Amino acid sequence: MKSIVVWDLPTRAFHWALAASVILALIIIEDEGLAYTIHVILGVAALVLVLFRLVWGFAGGERARFTDFVAGWTTVRSHTLQLLRLAPPRHIGHNPLGGWAVLVLLALTLLAATTGVLTGGLLGSATARAVDGIHELFGSLLQLMVFIHIAGVIVDWVLTRDNIVAAMWHGRKRIEDTSSAVSARGGSVLLAAAIAVPLIVFGGYVMTQIDLTAAPGRSSFDSETG
Ligand code: HEM
Ligand code: HEM
Repeated sequence: MKSIVVWDLPTRAFHWALAASVILALIIIEDEGLAYTIHVILGVAALVLVLFRLVWGFAGGERARFTDFVAGWTTVRSHTLQLLRLAPPRHIGHNPLGGWAVLVLLALTLLAATTGVLTGGLLGSATARAVDGIHELFGSLLQLMVFIHIAGVIVDWVLTRDNIVAAMWHGRKRIEDTSSAVSARGGSVLLAAAIAVPLIVFGGYVMTQIDLTAAPGRSSFDSETG
């Protein structure tokens, strides 16, 4: 057996930061007070992380690129059929079904966080009130997708005996000595920082535009303020 590098550091750091911020944003939900402030901070962090990942999908390391894991219909179908026979093949990067799940997770996080920001009153309280229900919908859809994601990871791990959770942590996978697979070219950490810094500044700016004491679009806020 030999060990090869699969996930570069920025991709791994992105994943666990996103997982933590989304899971906590789905648990800590309020429309005023400290819990509301925490929900907003976590939500804006998730927004910044997804924007980073969208750029990283073009500029990042070999396995992190969308071209590496967004597969066509035939490949997805063949993988799904093998999965239904409980014999999915191992993959060095994301498997074809997982690749699409990644896109859905990113899209739903983007939608939940963006509508969340609008709920925060960035475009006025009328818009805030209008998007409130949509935010709840995307938040719930994202929650469902996170369950599917974690279930998919466990199923893949059990059926392929490939500890993909550990791989997403330390970045490496063990493969047969005879395999021709070589370590993936990682993205530059410096480039990742150059992409991240303006996005963090943008996130900070968004935070300054949100009333952190109470959500402007919520009825409780309206009745308190008249
Ligand atoms: C404790 C919970 C979680 C575990 C154990 C976990 C595990 C994993 C693993 C093992 C992968 C790599 C899959 C592969 O090898 O193809 C992955 C990818 C991914 N997960 Fe999670 N995940 C968790 C929570 C979340 C949450 C809450 C989100 C939020 C949206 C999320 C979003 C993603 C994304 C976007 C990727 C793609 C990574 C990339 O290419 O940048 N995960 N996850
Ligand atoms: C990925 C990021 C986010 C996720 C996953 C998320 C998720 C959720 C969920 C699931 C709910 C509960 C819906 C319900 O009542 O059933 C909610 C409510 C809410 N969210 Fe977010 N949210 C995110 C970001 C944000 C952001 C950035 C803001 C900014 C202001 C925000 C503001 C609110 C407000 C005001 C509520 C209503 C609270 C209440 O019902 O009392 N969210 N969010």
